[in-house]
Amino acid sequence: MERFTLFSLFVLLIPCLCFAEVASTVVPDESDDLLISQVVSDSEDHILNAEHHFSLFKSKYGKTYATQEEHDLRFSVFKANLRRAKRHQLLDPSAVHGVTQFSDITPAEFRRNFLGLKRRLNLPAHAQKAPILPTNNLPTDFDWREQGAVTSVKNQGFCGSCWAFSATGALEGAHFLATGKLVGLSEQQLVDCDHECDPEYDDACDSGCNGGLMNSAFEYALKAGGLQSEEDYPYTGRDRGHCKFDKHKIAASVYNFSVVSVDEDQVAANLVKNGPLAVGINAAYMQTYMGGVSCPFICGNYLDHGVLLVGYGSAAYAPLRFKEKPYWIIKNSWGRGWGKKGYYHLCRGPRAHNLCGIDSMVSTVVAVHKNK
Ligand SMILES: *[C@@H]1O[C@H](CO)[C@@H](O)[C@H](O)[C@H]1NC(C)=O
Repeated sequence: MERFTLFSLFVLLIPCLCFAEVASTVVPDESDDLLISQVVSDSEDHILNAEHHFSLFKSKYGKTYATQEEHDLRFSVFKANLRRAKRHQLLDPSAVHGVTQFSDITPAEFRRNFLGLKRRLNLPAHAQKAPILPTNNLPTDFDWREQGAVTSVKNQGFCGSCWAFSATGALEGAHFLATGKLVGLSEQQLVDCDHECDPEYDDACDSGCNGGLMNSAFEYALKAGGLQSEEDYPYTGRDRGHCKFDKHKIAASVYNFSVVSVDEDQVAANLVKNGPLAVGINAAYMQTYMGGVSCPFICGNYLDHGVLLVGYGSAAYAPLRFKEKPYWIIKNSWGRGWGKKGYYHLCRGPRAHNLCGIDSMVSTVVAVHKNK
């Protein structure tokens, strides 16, 4: 479902054209990349100065290509992504879009290798419905990072294991709430050992780098007894290995997990009460995202990425009329070099209407209280 009709989109784009110049003052230290956020001109290649940006990109991210053909192919993909970043900037003026570590891959390659949320129609056997919580006394700003409930940003690498990172993030937070200890948990255990399937459709199973679901991961963790620590079972980003799970080394266990109703206030209330939440999201704007609050005029509700909701803010720093924009604080798993030190800020509030599907697949988990 689109948020606006084509007509209102047209109307909305007009103020954005003048606004784009202001956007270049948002992040002062990335002036080169911000060239892309400037207004579209007729002579695109000249304005984009694609070759210059491509060399900067290659040196910044240490990219080398095996053959000249590969290099030329990547350069043409890079140019297409510069144009895409520019379109994203127009559709999403309160964020900054430009060159990222994903600028030399196509959107299809991006979806295949760096996302990894599967479709599944039925909930696992032990998933419950989260009870409706009171929402009248919620804080205006809230951030689990300030309470020490969030581990540092991780990197899923070239592997569609987002679902595993989203699930460990939620259990890390729940475990912290239950025990007062923050322990990084093992995504690799989920990648190697969790093959939970939809009770009715055998082809919808958690399958390592080929995708999975957070709810299924909680189901697995519940049945297996828990997850080992990151330290004991470190991440390799490969899914060819066999399961090395050791029951005697469980670091955190799931007590119960439940699905939050599709309602922004319930999402906020569950976040504040139970800790960081595992959420699905449409990642369409994330390939080019560099900072600011992402508030695209159009964003699909199709969920293709699993991330961790850790907090929200009432008013983002953004130029002019975007000053009061409320936003979610979302932990991603693409390293600290992506986005806002590894985080994504996405618009929330009554006018955001479940933007990019953020309220559609939200799970909360409670950890077993252990005195370890
Ligand atoms: C999960 O467990 C917690 C702690 O006992 C409890 O408060 C909560 O209601 C449970 N969730 C559901 C959906 O039953």
